[in-house]
Amino acid sequence: MKITNICCIGAGYVGGPTMAVIAQKCPHIKVTVVDLNAERIAAWNDQDVTKIPIYEPGLSEIVGEARGRNLFFSTEVEKAIDEAQMIFISVNTPTKTYGLGKGMAADLKYIELCARQIAAVAKDNKIVVEKSTLPVRTAEAIKNILDNTGNGVKFQILSNPEFLAEGTAVSDLLNPDRVLVGGDTTHEGNQAVEALVSVYANWIPKERILTTNVWSSELSKLTANAFLAQRVSSINAMSELCEMTGADVKEVSKAIGMDSRIGSKFLNASVGFGGSCFQKDILNLVYIAKSYGLNEVADYWEQVIIMNDHQKRRFAANIVRTLYNTVSDKKIAFLGWAFKKDTNDTRESAAIYVADYLLNEQANISVFDPKVQEKQILNDLNYLGSRSQEMNAKQMTVTEDPYETCKGAHAIAVLTEWDEFKNYDWNRIYENMQKPAFLFDGRNILDAQKMKDIGFVFTSVGKHL
Ligand code: UDX
Ligand code: UDX
Repeated sequence: MKITNICCIGAGYVGGPTMAVIAQKCPHIKVTVVDLNAERIAAWNDQDVTKIPIYEPGLSEIVGEARGRNLFFSTEVEKAIDEAQMIFISVNTPTKTYGLGKGMAADLKYIELCARQIAAVAKDNKIVVEKSTLPVRTAEAIKNILDNTGNGVKFQILSNPEFLAEGTAVSDLLNPDRVLVGGDTTHEGNQAVEALVSVYANWIPKERILTTNVWSSELSKLTANAFLAQRVSSINAMSELCEMTGADVKEVSKAIGMDSRIGSKFLNASVGFGGSCFQKDILNLVYIAKSYGLNEVADYWEQVIIMNDHQKRRFAANIVRTLYNTVSDKKIAFLGWAFKKDTNDTRESAAIYVADYLLNEQANISVFDPKVQEKQILNDLNYLGSRSQEMNAKQMTVTEDPYETCKGAHAIAVLTEWDEFKNYDWNRIYENMQKPAFLFDGRNILDAQKMKDIGFVFTSVGKHL
């Protein structure tokens, strides 16, 4: 089947950029991205392409080129489903906050809603593509819903996990290490797989498009993220040991990374990993393992998260300890709130947890992030529910000027590795702070010697004082 009309449900960090790139690379395919959130769709349609709701380097330009030509953003979900031959599901799958599997299992409520909506609307055969990261065997559940509630039309379910990382989404989509398509091993299944493969083949070399069965594809996504997160937790575990022994974790990373069997990527010690995927995917893995009674497997992967929680807490506790065991009524400046640089996404960002810890210690926190707005920062804290919204608002300030954020502060904590932080006038920042001026680099991006020469009491992750 030659695909000429695609619909994507979910205009988020995954659906938006992925569809924009498909539309740019496949001008013969009409791509419609739909979302329940009318405000978000309106932002995607903003005349000024720099105002689209998701910040990703290079994305505005691509949207500018394809939007209105063969890329459309709409709230008319049913119409888009009806017209499409292939429907991507790219809605969020948060960790359950209630009931069975609370705090661990993925909440598939939105996925189920999408499946029911597709079943109700479809009048001809459709290929449904899981783009959201899902627990293994979700495709089966989607198929069940579609087959039992549909209008007698045939559905093929494909798993096509997304490997893009935020901040580099556009280049990851344009030039992926690999694309993975999982489908049924029946004749119809193979045809559906081929249909999706030929979409990607418009710009990706065939040898980088892997096809597998559905479950291998679903599990590969969770496994990839678990392995990546494990590397971060492994180096973070070493960072604590480095601080005790006098080793320097940057030197250790470099030394082990040059071993080609280990490789150099994902070995930056940090205040802890964040993002919408790592924790959620590992929790999914742990939950699945437990549900099959594989307790050792579950414990093994859970340790990656335990280590990450420890790293965030340890960083915050170190600030309190260094500031003479009290931060009560002291101003602590945060540089960065996003979970990594080059994104405005803050989901599970380490900064949220470090802030929460310091607020419990009665600190006043002032934040600057180049791409994150005040409203989001307060939402993130309110979502934790650790204290009243009024208290959060009272103890937090957000400014649009980093020098203002740091003015009069007792300490600065670097929480995100934004490049611009390296080039600030650190002499000026130092002059305007309380003394001793403490600087905690949670991302190891600043030049330690330079900062010490200026006069800062400088601490980075994984380096003995
Ligand atoms: C993605 C993946 O889909 C998720 O599985 C992965 O773990 C994280 O990344 P993402 O694109 O980042 O999610 O999520 P988000 O930015 O929250 O976008 C999801 C969109 O779906 C939202 O705009 C939401 O309004 C929309 N949505 C949700 C619908 O349109 N319909 C629904 O029923 C539910
Ligand atoms: C991840 C996967 O990389 C991507 O393939 C998948 O599709 C979605 O999940 P993302 O969450 O966007 O992508 O970001 P990633 O670059 O993986 O970083 C995750 C977290 O780990 C960030 O908080 C980052 O700062 C942290 N990290 C990463 C480190 O602390 N040290 C490192 O060396 C690398």
